[in-house]
Amino acid sequence: MSFTRRQMLVGLAGLGVVGLGAGGVRYWLGRPENVATHDYELIAAPLDIELVPGHSTPAWAYGGQAPGVELRCRQGERLRVRFINKLDVPTTIHWHGIRLPLAMDGVPYVSQAPVLPGEYFDYNFITPDAGSFWYHPHVASGEQLGRGLVGALIVEEREPTGFRHDHTLNLKSWHIDEQGAFTDFSVPREAARGGTPGRLSTVNGQHAPTLDLPAGQVVRLRLINLDNTLTYRLNLPGADARIYALDGNPVEPRPLGKEYWLGPGMRIELGLKVPAAGAELSLRNGPLRLATLRAQPSAEGAGEWPPALPANPVAEPDMANAETVKFNFEWAGAVSVGLAQGAAHSFWQINGQAWDINDKTCADRPIARLQLGKSYIFELRNLSQYQHPIHLHGMTFKVLASDRKSIIPYFTDTYLLGKNERARVALVADNPGVWMFHCHVIDHMETGLMASIEVV
Ligand code: C2O
Ligand code: CU
Ligand code: CU
Repeated sequence: MSFTRRQMLVGLAGLGVVGLGAGGVRYWLGRPENVATHDYELIAAPLDIELVPGHSTPAWAYGGQAPGVELRCRQGERLRVRFINKLDVPTTIHWHGIRLPLAMDGVPYVSQAPVLPGEYFDYNFITPDAGSFWYHPHVASGEQLGRGLVGALIVEEREPTGFRHDHTLNLKSWHIDEQGAFTDFSVPREAARGGTPGRLSTVNGQHAPTLDLPAGQVVRLRLINLDNTLTYRLNLPGADARIYALDGNPVEPRPLGKEYWLGPGMRIELGLKVPAAGAELSLRNGPLRLATLRAQPSAEGAGEWPPALPANPVAEPDMANAETVKFNFEWAGAVSVGLAQGAAHSFWQINGQAWDINDKTCADRPIARLQLGKSYIFELRNLSQYQHPIHLHGMTFKVLASDRKSIIPYFTDTYLLGKNERARVALVADNPGVWMFHCHVIDHMETGLMASIEVV
């Protein structure tokens, strides 16, 4: 299934989207299209930004911002993005969490050729699910995401949800020193452990900002972890906050509780009842303050808690006929010394196989082959001391159970697999193609913890 130029041309011409949806219902296939489109021109280019006061950081930006400009679409409608590469390196855009046709998935040599400097690529797909998603390259990810090529993609519900205030909080820590210069995005010693962390935390590109919210209102906060490495232990002491959605999929609203662990790539949507004017809340990562939420006087009447968000049209796995597939995530051994210049380290494996980030043919050897339309249970087993946010492209899966915590089953595209945890998730293999399956700690992914799964 290696990528060829011809396949790319087919991808470009193949604007008829393969149907995705509940129980194999194909909403759009073969129908004259009658949906609104949301059109963007998105440029990736270098941009100096000021993260450390008085110093500039040579970031890479989408749409003149790092993190990138927020893109918005509506459920069931079409997103068209003409992506123009004004960087001097090849890149792509992957739409994290969106169930789309393979040709739009942004994985180099699997779904498209890298977009070379000066070239453009037209992304064009329907967004079947409402929720908080994001976009990023799938080429040299450590550096490209690290320099700021990360952005929110918000898919609005078809009907009003009852939330009148909607804020996106992009969480990213930067690998920079006190003068704003980039430090290594990945160092072998850290890649072999929990991943190389950034030093400066930011919310929407600012360190520890103060965000004003309308007093007495219930606001929707979309927290997106765009970080290369960090799992945020999110907490909001003293706040009346409820979880409305996890990773782009609604859940029955429930209190945020003490802490929620948001791994790289993951999202959480909260309803927050903003306290009386003048009060402040502290959004924290463990004990560290990420942002201050300050209540500003509001002329609106008292806010009400909106009902649960409408479920997305994700197919329910057929548990009675599901086949079980096992995946072991493990550490591959000692840190190798004397590697040839440019050779990839391999610290991590899935089922005994390490992905070689420099080998363009890895996707030709899928780690599992699933039959289109059939249901599967994935048994995920972490044989290491470090946690791994396990992410699947192209399909949404349902988290069923864990041997470490009690799970209220929910749909997601990324599951934070704790150290030595064993978890079960299930899905309907309803999207044909070769889909990446990887840890979203970027330096784990780039040192072996990636595989492809083929659906035919
Ligand atoms: Cu955010 Cu391969 O994905
Ligand atoms: Cu993804
Ligand atoms: Cu990992």
